[in-house]
Amino acid sequence: MAENKSWVLMVTAQTPTNIAVIKYWGKRDENLILPINDSISVTLDPAHLCTTTTVAVSPSFTQDRMWLNGKEISLSGGRYQSCLREIRSRATDVEDEKKGIRITKEDWQNLHLHIASYNNFPTAAGLASSAAGLACLVFSLAKLMNVKEDNSQLSAIARQGSGSACRSLFGGFVKWIMGKDESGSDSIAVQLADEKHWDELVILIAVVSSRQKETSSTSGMRETVETSPLVLHRAKEVVPKRIIEMEEAIQNRDFPAFARLSCSDSNQFHAVCLDTSPPIFYMNDTSHRIISCVEKWNRSEGTPQVAYTFDAGPNAVMIARNRKTAALLLQRLLFHFPPQSDVDINSYIVGDKSILQDAGIHDLKDVEALPPPPEIKDSIQTQNFKGDVSYFICTRPGRGPVLLTEDSQALLNPDTGLPK
Ligand code: ADE
Repeated sequence: MAENKSWVLMVTAQTPTNIAVIKYWGKRDENLILPINDSISVTLDPAHLCTTTTVAVSPSFTQDRMWLNGKEISLSGGRYQSCLREIRSRATDVEDEKKGIRITKEDWQNLHLHIASYNNFPTAAGLASSAAGLACLVFSLAKLMNVKEDNSQLSAIARQGSGSACRSLFGGFVKWIMGKDESGSDSIAVQLADEKHWDELVILIAVVSSRQKETSSTSGMRETVETSPLVLHRAKEVVPKRIIEMEEAIQNRDFPAFARLSCSDSNQFHAVCLDTSPPIFYMNDTSHRIISCVEKWNRSEGTPQVAYTFDAGPNAVMIARNRKTAALLLQRLLFHFPPQSDVDINSYIVGDKSILQDAGIHDLKDVEALPPPPEIKDSIQTQNFKGDVSYFICTRPGRGPVLLTEDSQALLNPDTGLPK
């Protein structure tokens, strides 16, 4: 190792979040985070939803430290510790001739790390921030420590930080194979298709206002596995068939099959939550109204225009077959869930704002002028639910992790290794 104590070596990476369309719910090993079934996800465009993490090493650091969104947090939790231990054990020699730094495989065991991470979306909005966060932590540390493993092998480490994080190591469409081995070495993520394979899809997320404190996924899953008679039937009989069908739907870009499978699987996941004792309610009235709106429209068209899926919270993730259907979907959603009168339309729809042009929405007056969707017949459905959706995010399938090489993109100061 270089004798001079003043050097800081760092790496910055950006990693996307993902949404499962065949759900992971239930562990067979709590410690290693091994699931009871395979799952499939779509990676979301990091331009709109991602984590950026800078990891740094220096002989001057006296302990491992982490800052999340600018605030120092503890790294003592078992899941962070598992990821740090697994990555350190795979570290190899690193040499930076320009800076005169040489770190051997053995040095990594004694050197301390500084980690700064930033989510470009509200961590509390229930948008799977830990998936992007733990994937980014593992990916950036692997690059810093010159770990010579591919992203599937890294996914088995990220999995030990947060199960769904393993799917954020790839872009496009990703399968988390549950594996059989007790060690978890074969419980890894693989890419089914990259983000260019099906780039017509448009993803619209309704961030639903919620007053209720939700059950965490970790305890929810445990309670389901312990008490639901339905969940084993789902894991053993239903999901294996759906995984095969979903892989086929993705390969063939078969939107009706993709939508049918996504909606059914989301509904079955929430059914096993209801089947848990005591029952777990993740969706609320707004979530249910969004499902009705999409189901009515899909039925009236004769073939699905939009798929929906809900994770462990009330937010709706809707996947439209193309830009045209996404615009028609937004018109319907804005009809039912207009912004409050003091909210600017440009802060109500964030992400890819071109959907607003496509939908012919320029200001609040355009929202007020929206006609009821033709498929709606009863008057109850025409009342609007102002304020029930906090905002919408428009995005698309996106790429996997990347390194950010500009100094300006780092979250830590290159001289001190402390947050900028
Ligand atoms: N949990 C939520 N966001 C995270 C992040 N960016 N890094 C690590 N853990 C997180």
